[in-house]
Amino acid sequence: MGNQGLTDLPMKVKLPEPEAADRSHIEELIAKRRSVRRYKDKELSESVISRLLWAAQGVSSKEGLRTAPSAGALYPLEIHVVAGEDGKLEPGIYRYISEGHTLVREIAGDMRERLSKAALSQPMIRSAPVSFVISAVYPRITGKYGSRGLRYAYMEAGHTAQNICLLGVELGIGTCTVGAFEDEEVRKVLKLPANEDPLYILPLGYI
Ligand SMILES: Cc1cc2nc3c(=O)[nH]c(=O)nc-3n(C[C@H](O)[C@H](O)[C@H](O)COP(=O)(O)O)c2cc1C
Repeated sequence: MGNQGLTDLPMKVKLPEPEAADRSHIEELIAKRRSVRRYKDKELSESVISRLLWAAQGVSSKEGLRTAPSAGALYPLEIHVVAGEDGKLEPGIYRYISEGHTLVREIAGDMRERLSKAALSQPMIRSAPVSFVISAVYPRITGKYGSRGLRYAYMEAGHTAQNICLLGVELGIGTCTVGAFEDEEVRKVLKLPANEDPLYILPLGYI
């Protein structure tokens, strides 16, 4: 009744400009985030790597819930840290274990060159001191949600990557969210099991 006379004709609403002066800190970080593909020749400390991993998939509640949202709290994502030589970490590829906030080295040696080649030779993956690779173990989420679980995993990778990007801005660390790579080649470099697929590579380095 109350809607009588209203039409669905398009109506434009000019929004108030987001005032730079009123910006909160999080808005500053959002405004400053850009894809960065060149980095200083400076290693990342273990503490910085720890903070970035926590932002990505760290535990942030007593119940074990994490910093990035997850459909049904099923957490299909894994984070791998590809550490080059001359860094604080021994060179190699590490898996991040959210529970216990731990890294487990699974592969020894500087694998940045091979990872870069697997990603169409994108140079920032070779030059960044560290890259994070976000992968998904789909069965963890498709068991409950069927094929819709695949899209949930992609969405979660986006949440996770954005957390890394924004904390990176805060810490003076640049990254670029890289999606262009040969899945099978990345899988080989990381020696991923058959049920785990790479989704994103984030090279990380000081700006
Ligand atoms: C899903 C996805 C995949 C991307 N893959 C690549 C990539 O392989 N290489 C690259 O240099 N940038 C990649 N980018 C970064 C975009 O080029 C970048 O976000 C875009 O140019 C906008 O610039 P901005 O991030 O600075 O706002 C990707 C971004 C997204 C969201």
